[in-house]
Amino acid sequence: AIDIAKLRDQTGYITIDSGYKNTGATKSAITFLDGEEGILRYRGYPIEQLAEESSFMEVAYLLIYGKLPTQAELDSFSNQITKHTLVHEDVRKIFDGFPSAAHPMAILSSLICALTAFYPESVSPDLSKDEIDLNVIRLMAKLPTIAAWTYKNNMGHPLNYPRNDLDYASNFLYMMFSFPTEKYEVNPVVVRAINKLLILHADHEQNCSTSTVRLVGSANASLYGSVSAGINALWGPLHGGANQEVVEMLEAIQRDGGDTSKFIAKAKDKNDPFRLMGFGHRVYKNFDPRAKIIKKAADEVLTALGINDPLLKIAQELEQAALTDPYFIERKLYPNVDFYSGIIYKAIGIPTEMFTVMFALGRLPGWIAQWKEMRENKEPIGRPRQVYTGELNRDYTPIEQR
Ligand code: ACO
Repeated sequence: AIDIAKLRDQTGYITIDSGYKNTGATKSAITFLDGEEGILRYRGYPIEQLAEESSFMEVAYLLIYGKLPTQAELDSFSNQITKHTLVHEDVRKIFDGFPSAAHPMAILSSLICALTAFYPESVSPDLSKDEIDLNVIRLMAKLPTIAAWTYKNNMGHPLNYPRNDLDYASNFLYMMFSFPTEKYEVNPVVVRAINKLLILHADHEQNCSTSTVRLVGSANASLYGSVSAGINALWGPLHGGANQEVVEMLEAIQRDGGDTSKFIAKAKDKNDPFRLMGFGHRVYKNFDPRAKIIKKAADEVLTALGINDPLLKIAQELEQAALTDPYFIERKLYPNVDFYSGIIYKAIGIPTEMFTVMFALGRLPGWIAQWKEMRENKEPIGRPRQVYTGELNRDYTPIEQR
């Protein structure tokens, strides 16, 4: 048995808060979030205004540098990013080592970490402001190229080099969907939708992947290494992996005959591990403000592209049931941002295994801003404590005596 009094003498008092439900890890001036009121603001600007009026480049600048850019600042930021979109040719060779069926998130996290090998100076704890800015620009520029190539690699298609005459979202779509044999026309409706989705995903304060970026970065790890760790955290199905799971769940319901009530009953059954993917949120307990904007965007995109997706009907039935069923009402389980984003991605032809990569593309400026803030504030290395519950003191016995 554990001698609690003795343990306390050894460790002092430790606060246990599994899942950090009420423990702040840092002070931050980047994103304000009120889960009860459904408020989300980047640097004080409401998400609704940014999604409607801003561009992803402008929002990235806002998050990373703390203010809305002037036209000259925005032009310089975008031009620098455009200049760095190519990746080292040796990065291309690394693709050959992955199985063609590798999940794009596995390749993305590996290759973003690999950038540390191509820019070894990035691991220095004493980078100047200009050196940090260069790493920021490189990462913003190269992640879309690597992300699009993970898909092309997966499909066995030739890789497309970036086009510097296109804006950030259009260039990404071009690298994803263009073929040397066919001219690819970037659809402005799709570009607007992607731009909005990227803005909505750009930051969300101390979520699992962002906290990971800060924790890894607190050991003075490089920006690339820290963001790579964040990408792995995002891949988890309880975090960014949920948007892929939403569409897979809708497809499973469709294959099963489309009876949504059966799946709602499964979600409510405590002996069944099934959960309605895309419902519930750790922080938003009334509604997810991003889900409201995205729902509207999903309607616009599907109408503009003339898509009549039967999965959407299933999604609407689930949404309706969740808004009226006491189980979901009592537990404050509303559709979250992932519920609708998957439907838009599907409508614009992004395959399901790329959904979480799209999330990473959007979250990138947030991760960068949080890493930079952690560095600038000279935060100490993150090192949580624990309450030990194991055996206290045992004598080693040789293997033949056990
Ligand atoms: N379907 C059915 N029941 C659910 C769901 C769901 N999607 N989510 C939560 N519940 C139930 C739980 O079973 C629990 O019920 P109980 O009180 O009877 O035991 C209660 O609601 C509270 O759930 P917790 O898991 O304690 O809530 P938590 O805040 O820890 O989890 C989470 C939040 C992980 C998002 C959860 O709601 C979930 O698993 N949702 C599905 C996955 C998903 O959509 N993730 C994306 C999140 S958004 C993002 O990362 C961008």
